[in-house]
Amino acid sequence: MRETNPVRYDETRGCWDVFQYDDVQTVLTDFETFSSEFGSGLGGVSRDSAVDLTDTMIKRDPPEHERLRGVVDEYFQPGNLRTFSDDFEELARDQLDTVLAAGTEFDFAAEFAAPIPASVIGEILGVPRDKREVLIGVRPGGEHTQEELKAYITELVQRRKENPRDDILSEVIHATPDGREMTPEEIYNFCALLLLAGSHTTITLLTNALWMFTKHDLIADIQAGVIDLDTAIEEVLRYQPSVHTVERIASTDVEVNGTTIPEGDQIAAWVASANRDPQQFDDPETFDPERSPNPHMTFGRGIHVCLGAPLARLEARTVLPVFFDRVSDVSFATDERDPIVGPTLYGLQTLPISVQT
Ligand code: HEM
Repeated sequence: MRETNPVRYDETRGCWDVFQYDDVQTVLTDFETFSSEFGSGLGGVSRDSAVDLTDTMIKRDPPEHERLRGVVDEYFQPGNLRTFSDDFEELARDQLDTVLAAGTEFDFAAEFAAPIPASVIGEILGVPRDKREVLIGVRPGGEHTQEELKAYITELVQRRKENPRDDILSEVIHATPDGREMTPEEIYNFCALLLLAGSHTTITLLTNALWMFTKHDLIADIQAGVIDLDTAIEEVLRYQPSVHTVERIASTDVEVNGTTIPEGDQIAAWVASANRDPQQFDDPETFDPERSPNPHMTFGRGIHVCLGAPLARLEARTVLPVFFDRVSDVSFATDERDPIVGPTLYGLQTLPISVQT
């Protein structure tokens, strides 16, 4: 499609598809022409899950977008998140202990990776460890509902109002971006957005990383420092992005690469295709763990660029070494793969492996 039909209309989905790197970049950065105000963004995720993303920053254009993002932007900068490294490592160690206590053959995705990202979000929201079950269980296919999450977060907000602490939730509760405090609904929506945007995507990143590093026999080199883990993680993000499309709506008639997209039409910008565009990447179909520079678009671009990108990177960089230090001889239990194929998310649902300890 990138070569033969780079901007096309798909009748079945009622949506335009944009495949080339430069066009994807244009759609994501020109927020005046390509609006997020239609209830999508990571809309595919919300369709698949118990949580509704209406009224969150991901579905807002400026100035409302700036107002909502401005409340938390600072908190998600890499320097501020780094203080959590030790907590994330401990979480990973505890999770690995639990998994290995049951045996050395297990599903890396469902048994090891699945609870970690939501628990990490619990950590930064200041939710005690033994109270994170609802946060973890509200992911697509999980066992908790949006109502349970809402009741839980409402209670938590109440407690933080009475006893503010040095955590992001207390910060959001007392923020006054336009001279007034955030409403309970806005606070809840923010927490739900973090869980929705930050859980499944990061489970998939961890799983894809183990999949790629095992397949290409890289774990020993990563541990020895011969291959830089951060660089290799960027290549996992490029080659196997957790998010394949980002959606927008045309605010006006607009020409993209010689094709006119009419006002009001929906557009899917194919990040996964941009990441393999030979105009941008040498030898794009090769997984090269030392690729640098690596300007992939997996976290989006422009004003909506992923708020949690530094957190996802930090998680991968702290959790994977805990796993590699503890186990060796990772091998796949099966060659069959069962990807999640959704409108937005892509990744393995399961990755059965066996390890030595
Ligand atoms: C936005 C991908 C992890 C929170 C986005 C966008 C993408 C993305 C592509 C842009 C959407 C758009 O332009 O409409 C990913 C991937 C992740 C990941 C691939 C993991 C590998 C996280 C985490 C969090 C998070 C861990 C937070 C806990 C957000 C938020 C936005 C966002 C709040 C909206 C930003 C805005 O609208 O300004 N993400 N994400 N994401 N992401 Fe992530």
